[in-house]
Amino acid sequence: MLNTAIKAARRAATVINRASFDLDRITVSEKEHNNFVTDIDQAAEQAIVETLLKAYPDHAILGEESGPSKNLNDESEYAWIIDPIDGTTNFIHGYPNYCISIALQQKGVITQAVIYDPVRNDLFTATKGAGAYLNDKRIRVRNPDRLAKALIAANHGPEPRALAEFLRMYETVHPRCHGVRASGSAALELANVAAGRSDGYFEKGLKVWDIAAGALLVTEAGGIVGEFNGESEYLHKGDIIAAGPKVFAQMVTLLAPFA
Ligand code: IPD
Ligand code: CA
Repeated sequence: MLNTAIKAARRAATVINRASFDLDRITVSEKEHNNFVTDIDQAAEQAIVETLLKAYPDHAILGEESGPSKNLNDESEYAWIIDPIDGTTNFIHGYPNYCISIALQQKGVITQAVIYDPVRNDLFTATKGAGAYLNDKRIRVRNPDRLAKALIAANHGPEPRALAEFLRMYETVHPRCHGVRASGSAALELANVAAGRSDGYFEKGLKVWDIAAGALLVTEAGGIVGEFNGESEYLHKGDIIAAGPKVFAQMVTLLAPFA
């Protein structure tokens, strides 16, 4: 199933890469203030869904653009959770930080994850219980012993009302670490934590397709993922902290007041 997801991600990447050469030709619409979708998000999702359903016609689908399939419910044995372009705003601007995110949920548990960065040709994969990989090389979180030695990432979604709170969180974390970066793709931020390229990540108000694959990458790379109060319902809540165990504990202490 992981191989099928990789094939699906690569097909989507072909669509995305072709479009990235001529961004003036893409059709952009605004779902809500600053929340964009393009015809390329839709074409990429279609390529992913076709590939998955060709191999597994009975599986359920939850796609950012197409929504839930009719056979999706809490009992679904297999459900694919798809974000065809995580970082659509970056993609529209030619800012080279976006990815394809595909996760498989089996009876409520995420068991397979693929995040593909078509700009860098970085393929992140994880299978529950079998570790996380970047281009076939095992990856691990970096796990510095103190937040004071960490590089942290954080993003703010399109919801304008939450901005003031984000700025207070930023103000809380930034002076206590090496810095906070915001690069506009939640899935890639999680993949970066898994690969030890950053040491932690936090964001509120995410959707399950933004984080399902990335969260498995982080836990399979030895990291911890939780809500702002440290609890584990982050997939449904959409508020997430991910880091190595030591930095995670410090981030929860600092950010719990924002839970
Ligand atoms: C967005 C990105 C961004 C995050 C937003 C998401 P999209 O996803 O993950 O980093 O801050 O909350 O909506 O819309 O580009 O798929
Ligand atoms: Ca997304």
